[in-house]
Order: sequence, then C-alpha cells, then structure tokens
Amino acid sequence: MGFNICFRVFFVIVVVNWKMNQLRETLSDYYSHISDYIRELSLVICPPYPYLDQCSKLTNQYNSRGISSLYLGAQNVGHQSSGAYTGEISAAMLKDFGVSYSLVGHMERRTIFQENTLIIKQKIICLQHAGIIPILCFGDDPTSDPLTTNTKAITETIKNTLDGLDKPSSIILAYEPGWAIGGDETPPREVLEEIFFSVRSTMTATLGQDMSRHVPLLYGGGVRENNIHRLLPCRELDGFLCGGVSLKSKTLSALLNKIVTHGSTQTKVFSPVKSG
Ligand code: PGA
Repeated sequence: MGFNICFRVFFVIVVVNWKMNQLRETLSDYYSHISDYIRELSLVICPPYPYLDQCSKLTNQYNSRGISSLYLGAQNVGHQSSGAYTGEISAAMLKDFGVSYSLVGHMERRTIFQENTLIIKQKIICLQHAGIIPILCFGDDPTSDPLTTNTKAITETIKNTLDGLDKPSSIILAYEPGWAIGGDETPPREVLEEIFFSVRSTMTATLGQDMSRHVPLLYGGGVRENNIHRLLPCRELDGFLCGGVSLKSKTLSALLNKIVTHGSTQTKVFSPVKSG
C-alpha cells in the first residue's frame, strides 16, 4: 500500500441532529440565532418529522435572503418507497417537504431499532431514487473500548453497504464511535486519521478513486465547543455531525463560531490519499 499525493475536494459541512428534541415555538428563534454563521459553511439541520414543514419554510426564508448553504435534513427514512408500513415516512414524502439530506444507519437506529446492513442499504437506495443525499453513519459499538477501534469491522461494513449501489458517490459518510455519542470525549486525532484513511481506501477500492474523493467524511460523537480545536486539524475530515451541542442555538453558535474562526480549509487542499 503506497501514498499518492492527489487532489481531493474538501468541504466544511456541519450536520445538526436534534434527535427527539425541540418544540415548535422554539424553531424560529433558533434559526435566527445561528444565521450569522451559515454563510461560511454548509449547515444541514435534521429536525424531528413533525417540524419538517416549519423548518422547510425557515430554510426557504433564509435561502431567499442569499444564504444558500442552509439545508433541510431528515433523521431517518422508510426502507420501502410506499405501501403498508404503518408509522413509516417515505423518501418521496421527505422530498415533498424540501429535504435534501437524510441520516441513515445512525447508531441509535442500529442498536435501539435493530437496523441491519440490508435495511440501511434499502434506505440508501430509496433516498437516492428520490434525489436525497444519504448521510451514512457508521462506527464502533457503544460498548466498545474507546482505545481499540475495530478498523477492519468498520471498513467491512462500509464495503458491504456501498457495494452494488447505484450512483454511490452522492453520499456522505459519518464516523461516530458509539462510546462517544452523548458524551464530551472524542477519539485522538491519530485514531480518527487512521479510520478516515482506511475508509477512504475502502471507498477507492469499491467506487474507484474518482468517485471516492468526492465523498465527504464527517466525524460525530461528543463534538463540543471545548474539543473542536483538536478535531479541526484532522486530515481527511470534511465536517461534523452534532447532537447534544445543537440542542440550544447558543451552544451551536459558539461551536460554529470556532469552526469558522479556526477551521482552515486551505491547509487541506492537497492531501495524501492511500492507493491500493
Ligand atoms: P452527540 O450526538 O453530539 O450528542 O454526541 C451525535 C450523534 O448522535 O449524532
């Protein structure tokens, strides 16, 4: 295995996952408090389903003021396109509300709702048919030891999930170690870089280098204002998936401010990408 110096496209994307939080009356204030920062990066807000309509209107409102980097995301999607699936929401319905991105395979979906690779793959296919970009979450089990990341198991999951997909390059990947979700600790930079290089190599082997270099890689799990400075210099990292810190517009604004102030995409224009 060697290293090639090759051009790769870098992004700064922040995806906000409110999970089962927020209420209707707080939404408008929330958007107005963070609007100062969303010119500098791409921000994807994933509200609970009942608020998609209101958040879609707020997104359009900000887009019409020239803030074109604010997007609406969903936290989940049904695994079939339509039919007798009580309680499920289809990708076409999400599209109807202006959803551009959707999380899929979040650790909480995998562990609490027993979603497996087959279901996750079906969801990705539904999203891609509807023209919605999947944000595929993957990572170590919540019970795993923080110091022993299972890179082999992770790359195997990625390979099995991406294999045979149509248009696989229209996807974002988010590494979230289960033990880090909901806490305020993150893995050391070297661990993250090892994972990202391995995942990028797997993608290159599965999708080809040209497609693989356009797939943004995010980190999620315990991203907070007080640890973001350690994550930002991480090579191969294109952005963040944020839960707890995004529940209050004040803490999210503080985080976005740090990303905008300290995050230099310029140091990341050329990056070593592993070749097989
Ligand atoms: P956290 O959640 O930022 O609270 O760790 C991240 C996630 O679950 O996506």
